[in-house]
Amino acid sequence: MINRREALKRTALAATALTASAAWKVVRAQNAPPVPPAPAPTGPFQLPPLPFAADALEPAIDAQTMTIHHDRHHAAYVAGLNKAVTEAPELASRSVEDLLRYLDTVPEKVRTAIRNHGGGHFNHSLFWQMLKKNVGTGPTGALAQAIARSFGSLANFQAGFSKAALSVFGSGWAWLTLDGKTLKIETTPNQDSPLTHGRTLLLGVDVWEHAYYLKYQNRRADYLAAFHSVINWDFVATRYQAALA
Ligand SMILES: [Fe+2]
Repeated sequence: MINRREALKRTALAATALTASAAWKVVRAQNAPPVPPAPAPTGPFQLPPLPFAADALEPAIDAQTMTIHHDRHHAAYVAGLNKAVTEAPELASRSVEDLLRYLDTVPEKVRTAIRNHGGGHFNHSLFWQMLKKNVGTGPTGALAQAIARSFGSLANFQAGFSKAALSVFGSGWAWLTLDGKTLKIETTPNQDSPLTHGRTLLLGVDVWEHAYYLKYQNRRADYLAAFHSVINWDFVATRYQAALA
């Protein structure tokens, strides 16, 4: 049984704890991000936030498409990748880049899942960073020279890139890659990543219908024309210089 002095002491301590708790809630609320965070990851791989607001690339890429593309489709690839590594836990400590680059080292029972969902996660994570509004008319510096050397001109590159993207039957991607020191325009089906074939990804365009159908319906060519106006050439150039170094 406690005496009156002990009861008063305990009441005071409890009040102090409550005050501290309330104050902490206020601090947390003041520091909370304006947009609700993505759902808590259920595995080692996490959905990166978009590096811009969903409507930042309007009118080239509309906000609804951007939101669904990132919050639903990319999130689904992350969830699929996390599910795959529950069946092969030894993969959980490896980066998605490492898993794709050395896909032949991945156990066969989860290889297709890693290829599809890991590819989807990696490709989209880069894709968001390859986009930006009001970025000028094209690449500069060493990358500009390399594109001119490889394709004749920026206009020729753009035409070849769009032609490749239009040639993808069904779902897939078109890429500007670096094969050794050679720039190449390539395509991959589904979520296959050129990384698996030893390439460095410099620029990619997602031509799955989920990337454009809400705004452009079946007009993939119009989507591609708009895409060329929102390329983050600084990001592409940085990857090019890093790869050469
Ligand atoms: Fe996509």
